Amino acid sequence: MAKYDEIFTESIEHPEKFWADAAEGIDWYQKWDTVVDDSNPPFYRWFTGGLMNTCYNAVDRHVEAGRGDQTAFIHDSPVTDSITKVTYKELQEKVALLAGALQSIGVTKGDTVIIYMPMILEAAYAMLACARLGAVHSVVFGGFAANELAIRINHAEPKVIMTASGAIEGTKILAYKPIVDEAIDIADHKIEKCVVYQRPFVTSDMQEGRDIDWNDFVNGAQPADCVPVAATDPLYILYTSGTTGMPKGVIRDNGGHAVALHWSMKAIYDIDTGDVWWSASDVGWVVGHSYIVYGPLLKGATSVFYEGKPIGTPDAGAFWRLISEHGVKSLFTAPTAFRAIKKEDPDGIFISKYDISCFECLYLAGERLDPDTYYWASNLLKVPVIDHWWQTETGWAIVANCRGVEELPVKAGSPSKSVPGYNVMVLDDEGNEVGANTEGNIVVKLPLPPGTLPTLWKNDKRYIDSYMSTFPGYYETSDGGYIDEDGYVYVMGRMDDVINIAGHRLSTGAMEEVIATHPDIAECAVFGTEDQLKGQLPVGLFVLKSGVDRDVEEIQTELVKLVREKIGAIACFRESRPVIRLPKTRSGKILRGTMRSIAAGKDYRIPSTIDDPTIIDEITETLNNMGYPPK
Ligand code: COA
Ligand code: AMP
Repeated sequence: MAKYDEIFTESIEHPEKFWADAAEGIDWYQKWDTVVDDSNPPFYRWFTGGLMNTCYNAVDRHVEAGRGDQTAFIHDSPVTDSITKVTYKELQEKVALLAGALQSIGVTKGDTVIIYMPMILEAAYAMLACARLGAVHSVVFGGFAANELAIRINHAEPKVIMTASGAIEGTKILAYKPIVDEAIDIADHKIEKCVVYQRPFVTSDMQEGRDIDWNDFVNGAQPADCVPVAATDPLYILYTSGTTGMPKGVIRDNGGHAVALHWSMKAIYDIDTGDVWWSASDVGWVVGHSYIVYGPLLKGATSVFYEGKPIGTPDAGAFWRLISEHGVKSLFTAPTAFRAIKKEDPDGIFISKYDISCFECLYLAGERLDPDTYYWASNLLKVPVIDHWWQTETGWAIVANCRGVEELPVKAGSPSKSVPGYNVMVLDDEGNEVGANTEGNIVVKLPLPPGTLPTLWKNDKRYIDSYMSTFPGYYETSDGGYIDEDGYVYVMGRMDDVINIAGHRLSTGAMEEVIATHPDIAECAVFGTEDQLKGQLPVGLFVLKSGVDRDVEEIQTELVKLVREKIGAIACFRESRPVIRLPKTRSGKILRGTMRSIAAGKDYRIPSTIDDPTIIDEITETLNNMGYPPK
């Protein structure tokens, strides 16, 4: 039997043995009693009875093993023209001091801390300091507006917020602190302290009694030791877009997460201790949590921490410069980044300026890898280009070409086969498994492997409703697709109202909720349209309240402003049009799927439950006038 088949079969038939073996890669204060506690499905808990600390495993143990002088992070920041290297020993000192400072203001095991920071190392120190104390961090992506931050403050109820005065996004200087101040003001939950890292290019006002300067905070603090936590204790909450304005608080536990990520670094990414690894994402997304911070550190690798963009900082050669300068073995990013580079430098002129002979593999995820981008990247780089599919909920790959186990032949358009631990299947809407090459709902048979979400923060019911009830006994991924006769999975896209903009996950439902607050809007629908660069972009169709006769262009501008203010620039909401009415079923459900198909130029079936079929022609005409489907 081929190596991949053997390991995959072992993981599904004997998960306890498989993951107990993998757990040997982690240091435990006390070993687990049960590998997987399946006494209360669909709530599965991994390594119950085990005691460990994630920060210890990510930092201290490497120092104790004599690798204190190895570089843990390389912060490369073209936007501030600086490169900073931090060894494991230095990282241990910084994180222990920051943890001590947090302890001095009363943060202890189980408390929550929100981190709203740009791509600076202090963000990673903050995450690790929380982990050191057993406090639960929740990193909020810096592109989200005050209102989104406030929603998360109310739900996570943090004692403390850690932030920075600002960021440089490409060439723009953005102040973060006013956003934090506004979020604190509008949130009902009151935080006790706000720790602010002042960056030289933008200083922030400090509120006396509440705000603490980061340097003052750590100066004079006593280093804190790692606090043993239960394997099942939460390490972090990461909010991700669902189908409504209320994001889902995905929980990650400590033990299962450390075991799975440590295992994945070698099995999926072929990264060993001491290798240089680069994940070009942001700590605000799951990729940043798993593969900028925790995964590479748990493995004792060197992680490149990039504060820049694929283009414009300063040019389309930025990625090749970093690979060459830091000796990067493998890079992980989103296909959008490569589409951006391809657009600026289609012939790959920049690559010839750098020696990237150290580079062995490119990993892409976060959105569908279109065959054009795949072939362009493969031909240019002449190394394997590996697509892999996963979600915030799972925290690591569900389907991938596990190069560290056995490199499978690549089939363009497929992220390859199920990762060991994930029993991936395709079901029809009635829950029957479909045959090869038949499209349906992609699901994973329970239990999910360690490291995946045990539930949603303070919301077991939503966990069950969102993922576990449509197909009992299976995790519903909300992605549609098929599996071919060789077991290769093809992911065709979301079946719900979540869209993917430049590898960022956003909710059209949340945008609709914001637009609906505009005083002139009676109702609206937002759906994703295809975009050459960002994969998808949102488009809104709205119905005006009767009697409104204001200039429509003004209203459209107000809608764009509203979505930027309430959700953030990252939503990229720019296009909308008025319509007389929206297509709906007789029970009042808006037919977003039908509009999406019309805009994409795909075949669609008008549901028999449609209220008034004639409206489809009106919608088609409006979308055609907007340039959809693209020629
Ligand atoms: N803080 C504040 N604002 C942010 C931000 C952050 N961390 N990240 C993005 N934004 C803002 C941008 O400035 C932009 O604002 P604007 O409308 O005022 O110009 C808006 O959000 C949209 O940003 P983005 O989608 O990143 O568009 P872009 O045109 O600036 O860059 C790409 C396009 C393709 C270069 C960029 O999206 C990219 O690098 N993508 C890679 C994707 C990635 O790493 N995904 C992570 C998951 S693996
Ligand atoms: P996020 O939770 O932000 O990681 O987004 C997860 C969603 O992104 C998935 O449900 C998919 O729709 C999409 N996605 C991620 N990776 C891939 C991939 N390799 N191929 C296709 N879609 C992907």
